[in-house]
Amino acid sequence: MKLSFKILLTLTLVITVVFGQHLKDVEIEVKVNDLLRQMTFAEKVGQMTLFSGTNKRYEQMIREGKIGSLLNVIGMEENNRIQKIAIEESRLGIPLVIGLDVIHGYRTIFPIPLAASASWDTVLIRRAAEIAAKEAASAGIHWTFAPMVDIARDARWGRIAEGAGEDPFLGSAVSRAQVLGFQGEDLADPLTLLACAKHYVGYGAAEGGRDYNTVDFSERTLREIYLPSFRAAVDAGVGTLMSAFNEIGGVPASANQFTLRNILKEEWGFDGFVVSDWNSIGELVAHGIAKDRLEAGVKGLTAGIDMDMEGRCYTTDMEALVADGTLLEELIDDAVRRILRMKFKLGLFEHSYIDENLQKGLILHQDHIQTALELARESIVLLKNEDGVLPLNRKELNTIALIGPLADDKDAPLGTWRCEGKREDVITVYEGLKNKFGNDVKIIYAKGCDVKNNSRSEFNKALKAARKADIVVMVMGESADMSGEAASRANLNLPGVQAELINAIAETKKPVVLVLMNGRPLTLSNVESKVTAIVESWHLGIQHGNAVADVLTGDYNPSGKLTVTFPRSAGQIPIYYNHKNTGRPGDPDTKFSSKYIDLPSSPLYPFGYGLSYTKFKYSDIKVLNNRLLSTDELVVSANVKNTGKRAGDEVVQLYIRDIVGSVTRPVKELKGFQRVALEAGEQKTVQFRVSVQELSFYDSDMKYTVEPGNFSVMIGGNSVEVLTTDFKVVSLK
Ligand code: NOJ
Repeated sequence: MKLSFKILLTLTLVITVVFGQHLKDVEIEVKVNDLLRQMTFAEKVGQMTLFSGTNKRYEQMIREGKIGSLLNVIGMEENNRIQKIAIEESRLGIPLVIGLDVIHGYRTIFPIPLAASASWDTVLIRRAAEIAAKEAASAGIHWTFAPMVDIARDARWGRIAEGAGEDPFLGSAVSRAQVLGFQGEDLADPLTLLACAKHYVGYGAAEGGRDYNTVDFSERTLREIYLPSFRAAVDAGVGTLMSAFNEIGGVPASANQFTLRNILKEEWGFDGFVVSDWNSIGELVAHGIAKDRLEAGVKGLTAGIDMDMEGRCYTTDMEALVADGTLLEELIDDAVRRILRMKFKLGLFEHSYIDENLQKGLILHQDHIQTALELARESIVLLKNEDGVLPLNRKELNTIALIGPLADDKDAPLGTWRCEGKREDVITVYEGLKNKFGNDVKIIYAKGCDVKNNSRSEFNKALKAARKADIVVMVMGESADMSGEAASRANLNLPGVQAELINAIAETKKPVVLVLMNGRPLTLSNVESKVTAIVESWHLGIQHGNAVADVLTGDYNPSGKLTVTFPRSAGQIPIYYNHKNTGRPGDPDTKFSSKYIDLPSSPLYPFGYGLSYTKFKYSDIKVLNNRLLSTDELVVSANVKNTGKRAGDEVVQLYIRDIVGSVTRPVKELKGFQRVALEAGEQKTVQFRVSVQELSFYDSDMKYTVEPGNFSVMIGGNSVEVLTTDFKVVSLK
């Protein structure tokens, strides 16, 4: 009796929620269609137009209904002023949607996305996105051009900094977390942002890692590697997607009917809108597939781009094409509907202006700063720790020499896309260490050199400092402008004379801790053996220095794991863990095998790698059932024991390999991960449940399916050191 009452109650709740939502959606559709009926052609293309900034001419265009959205307008008052023009002075009073690149924070700047992904902590990543949304929304922003969910297997590409690394499974988990963080439960909540998964699609596969460059891959690679993180965003309810700059096998992503219309809108049923990247429709002319902007506009629209960012390709000139039958008016109506629908969902018609009180006490709130610190700590990856030189031994330490161009730099920690982040908010490593040690330890600071120029004039001062110290901490790497958009590098060594300075300091025979600050994997072969420890700290945002100080002193035990492979040399790129086996797997002793004659094929640090101040021992991998149907779930576990003397977190990773397929399969594929906290001496059994359906791939007929046969399953603390067992997928027949 009790049970059936419970079931009834749940059913009623489900019905109210589902139908309540459905009612809302129906109401929105009615309103959208009603507005659409009243719109002139010019007003329709106006809604499909997105411009950057404001000026008198744009204000007039907004009055005339010729601009429907803006980006890069900053400040609550300014945004309210512009919005007022749209609402009160345009014929139909349709509100503007105002966008900005809120990538890793608005004013409270968090670690760059590549760093944050190294935490493998989707709860914290979601929380950071939620905070970024709150701060930005309170300042009048409705829409962020984030998350960037491009998978990147090439560290030369500067934009690798903006994504979650090389793996589609982890990339999807992070994509989902960010969308949920930005958009919250309800887009109409004034403190959430409309998210935009970008850059659809394949942007990370630019040839040679050169930004905007040509992309060419198979449909299988598209679907298995580059699409899943977008699909995850769509499944999480992302409201918009941004089309990419690159071409894919001859068809630019911003004119690509296959990816935009067939896959995104039809196959996945995406009902939000697609915005172009900055002039990416206009660039169809340079790509050589359109003779002018008008033709480019027709191609962009036909492919499925609903809103043109700064391309000036969606104009009233299109009206003549509709009249002569070249362009279908339904395409325009569909695009406008998608945009209006989102404006209604954002609640912009009811609450068009930002309440000035929203911002009070919100920007840089103590909780936001605390989250920035927590995520920064978790993002740090300990790459090397010879002789347990770290954590620093406070009791035995009198003097530290702190050397390097980034040791007291307030700019680099903000990284690429710092939004409203301010240098004055940043804690440098120097400040972090001073906060930590007070007067207990003497810190001699010497810059030593610059990041980019080749002057050696400060080397001597640095050497003097090193000679006086018990230990040397060197903070080196890339300045913020060396990663991000249009910041591809052909050489991934430490820039300038930094490596030379490391070599000179190493001559003093003092232990050297290298703290790296960078937006991508660097090639470290020329310095790795010269230093005692390496701490990868990326660009960690405003709490950079405190997070690094916590790790160096052991107040926080590092737990980050690489989400991207660190090559030995740029010549190995593309290098990634989930590669294929080839017909001649790289046996170093066989001449005719797949390898280099001048370098091992293996990376310097593999995907998933990262050390801790304690040790974790894996044992006893077990599958619950080693014969599974395609409808079953794989249940696999292993024991993980903290065998060291201090507590620590371990990111436990699960990989599988399909041994024989109708097409070749990767040697390993990540299918699960868990962050596990273990006290000293503690052991836990870590269990994963993976639906056999998740082992599907595109077979020789491009059918997404699980093929019966043998699989390996692996559990470990990185993609190389794993325990392995096996299981079989059997067919019913
Ligand atoms: C170009 C970049 O590719 C894109 O990521 C960004 O969102 C837009 N510019 C707008 O700033």
